[in-house]
Amino acid sequence: MPTVKEILQTMDYGPAPEAENHVAAWLAQHEKGFRHFIGGAFVRSSGKATFDVTNPARDTLLAKVAEGTAEDVDAAVKAARKAFPAWSALPGHERARYLYAIARHVQKRERFLSVLETMDNGKPIRESRDIDIPLVARHFYHHAGWAELIDSEFAGYGPVGVCGQIIPWNFPLLMLAWKIAPALAAGNTVVLKPAEFTPLTALAFAEICREVGLPEGVVNIVCGDGATGAALVAHADVDKIAFTGSTEVGRLIRQATAGSGKKLSLELGGKSPFIVYEDADLDGAVEGVVDAIWFNQGQVCCAGSRLLIQEGVSDLFLRKLQRRMETLRVGDPLDKSVDMGAIVAPVQLQRIRDLVAKGKAEGGTLWQSPCDLPSKGNFFPPSIFIDVEPSSTVSEVEIFGPVAVAMTFRTPDEAIQLANHTRYGLAASIWSENINRALDTAARMKAGVVWVNSTNLFDAAAGFGGYRESGFGREGGREGLYEYLKPAWEKGLADAADAKAAPLSAAPADAPTGNALPSIDRTAKLYVGGKQARPDSGYSYTVRSTSGASLGQAGLGNRKDIRNAVEAAAKAGGWGGATAHNRAQVLYYVAENLASRAGEFEQRLQGFGHSAETARAEVEKSIRRIFFYAAQADKYDGRVHSTRSRHVTLAMNEPFGILGILCPDEAPLLAFVSLVMPAIAMGNRVVVVPSPVHPLAATDFYQILDTSDVPGGVVNIVTGARDELAKTLAEHDDVAALWYHGTKSGGAATEKGSAGNLKPVWSNQGKSLDWLADVQAQGADYLRHATQVKNIWVPYGE
Ligand code: NAI
Repeated sequence: MPTVKEILQTMDYGPAPEAENHVAAWLAQHEKGFRHFIGGAFVRSSGKATFDVTNPARDTLLAKVAEGTAEDVDAAVKAARKAFPAWSALPGHERARYLYAIARHVQKRERFLSVLETMDNGKPIRESRDIDIPLVARHFYHHAGWAELIDSEFAGYGPVGVCGQIIPWNFPLLMLAWKIAPALAAGNTVVLKPAEFTPLTALAFAEICREVGLPEGVVNIVCGDGATGAALVAHADVDKIAFTGSTEVGRLIRQATAGSGKKLSLELGGKSPFIVYEDADLDGAVEGVVDAIWFNQGQVCCAGSRLLIQEGVSDLFLRKLQRRMETLRVGDPLDKSVDMGAIVAPVQLQRIRDLVAKGKAEGGTLWQSPCDLPSKGNFFPPSIFIDVEPSSTVSEVEIFGPVAVAMTFRTPDEAIQLANHTRYGLAASIWSENINRALDTAARMKAGVVWVNSTNLFDAAAGFGGYRESGFGREGGREGLYEYLKPAWEKGLADAADAKAAPLSAAPADAPTGNALPSIDRTAKLYVGGKQARPDSGYSYTVRSTSGASLGQAGLGNRKDIRNAVEAAAKAGGWGGATAHNRAQVLYYVAENLASRAGEFEQRLQGFGHSAETARAEVEKSIRRIFFYAAQADKYDGRVHSTRSRHVTLAMNEPFGILGILCPDEAPLLAFVSLVMPAIAMGNRVVVVPSPVHPLAATDFYQILDTSDVPGGVVNIVTGARDELAKTLAEHDDVAALWYHGTKSGGAATEKGSAGNLKPVWSNQGKSLDWLADVQAQGADYLRHATQVKNIWVPYGE
């Protein structure tokens, strides 16, 4: 028997396994295999195939599960569609009661669900018991609240319809909660496909849905692999797809849904920086690394996998970290004193091993925790590469395992540059005792979530989601609910006429008729970087009125012009940093200058064939709309979310950076103003393609911009063929978001083209808006699409 002193010296411990008998009994009840949950019942698959679900820590079979076919998906979508009218029509309070009941039942089954999750996924029971499952309950409680408040807090919005939801295996039940709770709160019905490695807690959740008497068809669960997921994505009667998983599959889904009108949110991969400044609490930061990269065996999309350590403390910090690594316990995840469990599947383990081998081959120095690994199961030790190059494979690729890379930096600027040197933008963690430095760094991170002196914190009240190739849309809180809502007015929109997409011909201008003198050259140029510019092609096209008369010429812009415009916009980055008050002043000035030249613009619009009255209404509304966005510039602000105690979680509305805007043919001046003004009011720089048929109202606008102190490069205008230019904008890596108003086919091509860097595309889906109607063409929806929310978590207290 060791003495207490000896125990304290060695810190040896005995196993403390969590009981698994309840889960074993439940699995035994389903010995013949699990079925899909469709229309409120567990139903047989239309096919015969099943797949095995194994315990990754023991290599043992847990269950056989039906493999969903396209027919199963169809049956589930039909059940969801059937349930939708009644569910969406329920008073919010009644939906809230169901969500609340689900939360209560999750809590009642907390122990069971934790053990099941751990057996299915391999994560330590400490995590499933203390983090995953409590957060699941919290998510349903929080969204029970939103269901209660939805009519008052989201007036003018309604549910999207049937939502297809595809989730990964790293937080199986938590990801289910993130998807199902907001969808149901907003009045949608769902078909959810869990990951093939970890479907069991979703099936246990289906039982909870029955227990609480959730109406049939509101939640449907179809199990299966990528093919089942693809069938759900492709189903014509699904109104929205929400996906969490790899960036590669996210891209496929973006392409598959392009032009379908399905609403889309993507939560994808990451390679998040973990910055340690010299003035950080180094011991705290070492614990932070443990939670950042060894939490859930590093299978976390927002894992702090790139350690950036300031040079002066690097050696000391790494020594401390190495010492801490020696104490990490890897083993049976059901053991309550284990820090790290098993990797979810052999294929993922192999992927980690391959990447680590590559890192070594590229010259990285690998440190691994000296722990004993169990002889069975998919285990990998806590690992770190030190002194790697920022451009090495292990620094750039998401390893999705317990492997960090470490590198050093000298100055804060260098830290920020390294941190943002990634195609992803999910999260960042910043360690410094200097609040100025920490917040300055947080503001300059290109990431959707930033944790100051903390890491991997989640709460139902705060939005979670990425910038850049980490996807778009948010999950959680108020911002997450918008993903499951759509403006009510969208329902009644008519299709825009496709004929207007006729190609523009670079024919010479009409010859003067009769004995008229040749007119003074009226070729409108492009407007790039605050200057008029000739189109690269050297061609122009004739702009005609509705009766066919020639009104002048406009430049025929091409991809080179777009690239120049984006470059000019990139140089105007100061606009986003200007105060909102400054931007408001500039917008007021634009409105004032437009007002003083209203007559000219009215004439221009009449030239196109507008009546005097319509022309006046359009100009007047344009002026008012600019005033509206000038007013909003310093009022559409963020929030402080109520998450954990002693934390402020700042939800900041940040501009995207460079936004591409493709204008419709209707209301050539008003639509231009309605799209450009909210975008620049929020601090974006824009590259705009005005209506190809009526570009001259926009080209006349140069003079207004020139005389209104709009800095060069903030608004860039390239005239020409909309869909051709849209393609270049969609494919351009420096364009962070796109608004497309044009034809259905053009919108589809634009969405498809955006799959490369996964920029969000807000498309009119080929519908015509009434630009004079404020409810459609003005308001918070525009400001919301002009911004992305960054949640900055700042803990306080000693
Ligand atoms: P995955 O992206 O293939 O799987 C995620 C989900 O998507 C699963 O439910 C899967 O069945 C489904 N899916 C696969 N192909 C599909 C398709 N064509 N259409 C619709 N659904 C489809 O991820 P996988 O293969 O499990 O893991 C590979 C890598 O992806 C990991 O090593 C990691 O880097 C990354 N990953 C990132 C996650 C995140 O949370 N961001 C989660 C899981 C994986």
